[in-house]
Amino acid sequence: MGLSMNLDSYNAREAEQQHLLQVYGQYDFEPVAAEGVHITCRDGRQLLDFYGGHAVASLGYAHPDVLETLNKQAAQLFFQSNAVALEVRATAARKLAEFAPAGLERVFFVNSGAEANENAFRIALKKTGRSKILAVEHSFHGRTAAAGALTWGAREKWYGFPRTPFDVDFIPRDESDAAQAMVDSDTAAVVIELVQGMAGAYDLAPEFVKSIDSACKKHGALLIIDEVQTGIGRTGFAFAADLYGLQPDMLTTAKALGAGFPVGALMLTENVANCLGNGDLGTTFGGGPLASALISTVLDVIERDQLLSNVQKLSRRLQAACLTGPVNKISGKGLLLGLHCSGGAKSTRDALLDKNILVGTSGNPDVIRLLPPLVLNDEHVDELVAALATI
Ligand SMILES: Cc1ncc(COP(=O)(O)O)c(C=O)c1O
Repeated sequence: MGLSMNLDSYNAREAEQQHLLQVYGQYDFEPVAAEGVHITCRDGRQLLDFYGGHAVASLGYAHPDVLETLNKQAAQLFFQSNAVALEVRATAARKLAEFAPAGLERVFFVNSGAEANENAFRIALKKTGRSKILAVEHSFHGRTAAAGALTWGAREKWYGFPRTPFDVDFIPRDESDAAQAMVDSDTAAVVIELVQGMAGAYDLAPEFVKSIDSACKKHGALLIIDEVQTGIGRTGFAFAADLYGLQPDMLTTAKALGAGFPVGALMLTENVANCLGNGDLGTTFGGGPLASALISTVLDVIERDQLLSNVQKLSRRLQAACLTGPVNKISGKGLLLGLHCSGGAKSTRDALLDKNILVGTSGNPDVIRLLPPLVLNDEHVDELVAALATI
């Protein structure tokens, strides 16, 4: 990479422990720089990144278009709030609406996936005048009061609030009959994560998704697709909703949308948006100039460099070759894949890290998760496959 690092004895984990809350299980390396799909660590190691900082680094690191956009926009107009209209924000919203499934014409920019979901749930309750939202077992929707309420297992593990802000229930995964029975005229919305990321890249059965969609239509409930992890090309489609042939009432996205800059978006149909007026929603930072400029750049680069077909091609290559070494099954879509490992995910992750390849784990103790940058290439895939074969 041509970077000369200061390989001193500084230990970031120890330094963090002095003041930062200790709420994260952390890897044992410290990134000090990154370029393309490689991370340089303080000890001089170079890691091939199949994790992408939780699916965020959509264009990898130090991407020239991202750097140019950041520099130009920061110099021109660093920040203005939603109290004023901005060309850069209007452009980002137009491009995102063009990129999204048909019908999602309205955009509300926020700062994170949880914030996007929080707003989606609130709008569903307001639009329908109902008080219950359903999610699917094993889904993850975020850490805030409403998003956490709809996250499977949260209340037993970390939720912390004494009650949920609305009625909540969970549909058993891939059980179409249960979906038909549970969605009723009290249901404001059903939220679905089409490929459940945290659960280990579990792709929901299309028949199950269709049954939820039809039950929502039958009972006037809204369909919300959480594409915080699956969106922005990750599945080889602009959104997983395209892959599943869905036209949701709302869609949320974040992570890859800003290529590493904190940003989220809620997208709505005109029909849903009609229930909102001046003062109904708000956020200080959402849709700021830097975030907006980066959204446009990410979408432009995905189109210009044909990254959707790159994702599809690499996904095929991975699925054809990764059944080797400890891997006995592959789930997921595009570049959100779960490698099911005999002997467990953690030991495979550690063995790969010893070979300078970074992968993620998941809520499933047997599944390692691949969420690499969309700019990955064939050689990177082959490097992972070769490493797996020796484990
Ligand atoms: C599917 C899904 N929804 C929501 C979230 C929450 O996003 P954030 O961490 O940006 O609040 C995540 C984060 O991992 C996610 O994977």
